[in-house]
Amino acid sequence: MENGKKVMLSGIQPSGELHIGNYLGPLRHWPEMIEEFDCYFFLADLHTITVRQEPAELRRRVLTLLASYIACGLAPEKCTLFIQSHVPAHSQLAWVLDCYTMFGELSRMTQFKDKSARNADNINAGLFTYPVLMAADILIYQPDFVPVGEDQRQHVEICRDIANRFNGIYGDVFKVPEPYIAKVGARIMSLSTPEKKMSKSQPEGCVFLMDKPEDIMRKFKRAVTDSDAERCVRYAPEEKPGVANLMQIYASATGKSYEEIEREFDGKGYGAFKPAVGEAVVECLRPIREETERLLADKAYLESVYRAGAEKAGYVANKTLRKVYKKVGFLPG
Ligand code: TYM
Repeated sequence: MENGKKVMLSGIQPSGELHIGNYLGPLRHWPEMIEEFDCYFFLADLHTITVRQEPAELRRRVLTLLASYIACGLAPEKCTLFIQSHVPAHSQLAWVLDCYTMFGELSRMTQFKDKSARNADNINAGLFTYPVLMAADILIYQPDFVPVGEDQRQHVEICRDIANRFNGIYGDVFKVPEPYIAKVGARIMSLSTPEKKMSKSQPEGCVFLMDKPEDIMRKFKRAVTDSDAERCVRYAPEEKPGVANLMQIYASATGKSYEEIEREFDGKGYGAFKPAVGEAVVECLRPIREETERLLADKAYLESVYRAGAEKAGYVANKTLRKVYKKVGFLPG
């Protein structure tokens, strides 16, 4: 805790382009938090190599994601922005925590099951121990809150379990953080398969922050709604998952409630609704895309941001790491 402020931390993997699930779910809320909390936001590049990456492409995506963080409103002077691999203490703590995490609990992680089904030829140990590295990312900064989307809840839960187990043995070493999950936008679904979450691994139903306006409009016009005779804009996630998802996106992009949206499109049908959602998203993303492009042209500035961020983050992370090493009985170097 710095200046009596509570601490908040989160990260995104630069494993693909940012999409509106990442943005409308957690990222959009982060800038509101930087005044009130002591915030750490990082780019989880260590996590991305659980799936094979093309090295030059990964370097490009890291810079783009950093530029997008800043373009979304994360002012580097008000929070700590850094790249995970620049702070080795994350990996060092992860090894210690590996030894306090059970094989059985990692086997139950739904994301491990999903990802290993999708990457059957590369079910590596990193994919399996991924939640432990994520626990280290979190616990090393002693945060109060971790703002994420719904799909990461289970990982924050296991992080809490690991922290409690460690604290049970060694005393109060780690703060046990709470997940912080937005009410609207926490689970944006794919536009082409609304039963599945929007994900960069399924680009057909995914809208990326850097997509051109015409591509965004095309994706929304083709979005799957439903085939019922009613064809009216009504929030019913079970019956009409595609429409509910579009309503969620529209609500997140405009700040309107579901009732307001139902009234706005009363009697108008999907033909008017889908392009309206597309336009709202285009307008919401336009300034971010433009600012990201502007920042990407200034590599020296981006470099100065991530260098300063790693220094600040490293200072805090190493403090926790030293404490942990001492507790487990390592001789100080
Ligand atoms: P990642 O990179 O998959 O996603 C980044 C953030 O976006 C959220 N998200 C979504 N929210 C709503 N709807 C969606 N369709 C959607 N898809 C993704 C995710 O919940 C996440 O908040 N393991 C993490 C990265 C990470 C991390 C951490 C996060 C590594 N260490 C420590 C917090 C704290 C991940 O893969 O997120």
